[in-house]
Amino acid sequence: MRGSSVIPAKPLYEGKAKSVYTSENPDELIVVFRNDMTAFNGVKHDLFTDKGRLNATASEFFMKMLEAEGIKTHYIRMSAPDTMIVRRLEMIPLEVIVRNVAAGSMTKKYPVAEGTVLDWPVVTIDYKDDERGDPMINDDLIQVLHILTGDELTQVKKIALLVNTVLTRFFDECGIRLVDFKLEFGKAGGNIFLGDEISMDSMRLWDKETGESFDKDVYRFNKGDVITAYRNVLKRIIPEFSL
Ligand code: C5P
Repeated sequence: MRGSSVIPAKPLYEGKAKSVYTSENPDELIVVFRNDMTAFNGVKHDLFTDKGRLNATASEFFMKMLEAEGIKTHYIRMSAPDTMIVRRLEMIPLEVIVRNVAAGSMTKKYPVAEGTVLDWPVVTIDYKDDERGDPMINDDLIQVLHILTGDELTQVKKIALLVNTVLTRFFDECGIRLVDFKLEFGKAGGNIFLGDEISMDSMRLWDKETGESFDKDVYRFNKGDVITAYRNVLKRIIPEFSL
């Protein structure tokens, strides 16, 4: 039992950092943000106290912000600080990444230095499949593999770029540079919804002045105390936040 939701003993789906459970309402699922932190496709794995709550709080905050901008998300309500009730979606197996500044896999794959500001926001899409190492996919493949129709793909990219506009503006006001982030989408009732999470696990955030990382790179590359970094983000985005 968490808040008003009864959590079944067995999850419907166990991800690397979240567990998804069915609820009494067939149109809703219960998502528990766990304290697990993983990187490099699960090769690195640790547990950090409060990590689940920090990411759940950030995700709730951004999902609400995007809803207010007219973007459909799976967010319904929180039933505990680490537990989100969401609309049940048929998930689309794509990781839709928007990049404003070159970093991470982009600098490994292409001849571009980390920190290079891109001429415009670039959308890159990976096929979500751990066994295949989440390979990058393109528009034609997405359509011939019947993952999305051309129209749906156009819609997904449009939403991703709108999310980028909203989040970039917001972070800028908080003294943070939104370098890149990953979104996942799903379908329900013929509509496309933003699913999964928007958190410090799924974004690269750099201090505008110092370039310091406030995101999962702190953990990936042993840059310091990751929970302090995540707390710093929440303090900047929600001034009254305390944990
Ligand atoms: O690894 P890469 O540089 O392609 O990641 C781009 C962005 O997408 C980063 O913000 C990263 O944290 C996020 N990402 C993610 N989950 C993945 C892959 C990337 O949240 N499986």
